[in-house]
Amino acid sequence: MARRLKILYVASEAHPHAKTGGLADVSGALPAALRKLGHDVRLILPKYKCVPSATIKPMGKKVPVLLGPTYQEAILFETIQPGPTYFIGHDPFFHRDGLYGSHGRDFPDNAERFIFFCRAVLETCKAISFQPDIIHCSDWQTGLVPAYLKSIYASEAFFKNTRSIFSIHNLGYAGNFPPQALHTAHLPWTLFHPKGVEFFGQFSFLKAGLVYADLLNTVSKKYSREILKPENGFGFEGILQHRRQDLFGVLNGVDEEAWNPADDPLIDHHFSARSLQKKQACKKDIAKSLSIELGRREPLLCMITRLSDQKGLDLIVQGFQDIMAERVGFILLGSGDARYEKFFKSQKYPNKFACRLGFDEKLAHRILAGSDILLMPSRYEPCGLTQMYGMRYGTVPVVRAVGGLADTVPPFNIRTGQGTGFNFRPFELKYFMTALRKALTAYQQPKTWRQLMLNGMSQDHGWEKVAGQYTRLYRRALRQK
Ligand code: ADP
Ligand code: GLC
Repeated sequence: MARRLKILYVASEAHPHAKTGGLADVSGALPAALRKLGHDVRLILPKYKCVPSATIKPMGKKVPVLLGPTYQEAILFETIQPGPTYFIGHDPFFHRDGLYGSHGRDFPDNAERFIFFCRAVLETCKAISFQPDIIHCSDWQTGLVPAYLKSIYASEAFFKNTRSIFSIHNLGYAGNFPPQALHTAHLPWTLFHPKGVEFFGQFSFLKAGLVYADLLNTVSKKYSREILKPENGFGFEGILQHRRQDLFGVLNGVDEEAWNPADDPLIDHHFSARSLQKKQACKKDIAKSLSIELGRREPLLCMITRLSDQKGLDLIVQGFQDIMAERVGFILLGSGDARYEKFFKSQKYPNKFACRLGFDEKLAHRILAGSDILLMPSRYEPCGLTQMYGMRYGTVPVVRAVGGLADTVPPFNIRTGQGTGFNFRPFELKYFMTALRKALTAYQQPKTWRQLMLNGMSQDHGWEKVAGQYTRLYRRALRQK
């Protein structure tokens, strides 16, 4: 039998402890799926204010972390439920509202916060004598871990056999800071050059991960190719080209327990492919509670999203009147950029459009269960989970054919009856509206629509298969010199 691996999964957010987006869903589900394959997986996160204290307990261990001129203490916690998940406690950095910022602004000390976190992660391994085969990092907040392993920890026997993997969930967030942060991190200045952590004169935590991890991964095949070009590379296309032999694209999975319309505890009416008519009760409920009035066979559209440029919201803003001119209802749940919040809040289409600003997990489930069509016209999308959740709930996605959206939403073909949604490619309103109108037309044909819903609901995106693919990646990393 293949050797059981010891894996440390490092993330800045994970469901159900702390979440701003899909990264949390992945960090919550993938470690559990890997555990089911028999691996010893420990997840490690910052102990934010939002982590309910009733769910964790102190481990009775403190770890000194050298940060700039002084040592600061990380206090270690773990979950009460066996998991195990560890938390790095340091209230001055993590006990605040927001994970990375508040009121739409990044915290000014994010460099110190995540230098501290990355270093504390490695010190924690030693403190609890957990010698990982693999350290799996995600996004810029964890990018310094691979850089530490290849520099000041390189001579430590403890990590001699440890390899790192860096997952790119979103290249649009680089974690760029002034070069002086190298001092704070105690990383050698010899790393500060264009083939190292320097990024146009700044110290990029993302680049640290991209350069120093043993293997790189991103969350869909298509995105793994898109980021090699300037259009989607955010300036990192050079280093990614250079490392393309080490770059993989493993499509995210769906937590099929958390997102299951047949027994989702967050929705009031349960349904499955065999009882699709019950979805209508979810539709009625959500429409009623958000004061949307729908005529006979009038579809309910929805968006559940971070309000950021990535999500193609400028198309929605630009086309808002056109969308509202259709016979539809529209619900938007989102939070993020102030200008989008302001726009959606100011729209007055009573009984036709409802907007909820904020982050609300239960509402997200209820809206997805009750809607007919989900809009995701993203500018770029590394994977996208919401469209996969939508399909599981019989909510048909209209997406831009980029990244994971292209990989997970095969366009509907009326002739063959195959496909799960509608897509468009050029980022222009007319193409988006054409795709949306195709969906609206199909909606008027009950048989066709039913087929579309069933196609989406029968897709298999379970984490088990994905965990197998990661295991192969880990073994490959272990073979690297
Ligand atoms: P991203 O990670 O880029 O935000 P994904 O589609 O991968 O996009 O994942 C988004 C996740 O965040 C989904 O679980 C979605 O339901 C959730 N989500 C996004 N916005 C909200 C919100 N305002 N309230 C509740 N959940 C949200
Ligand atoms: C990022 C991406 C999203 C992806 C998620 C989880 O936030 O924007 O496309 O699904 O990470 O990998």
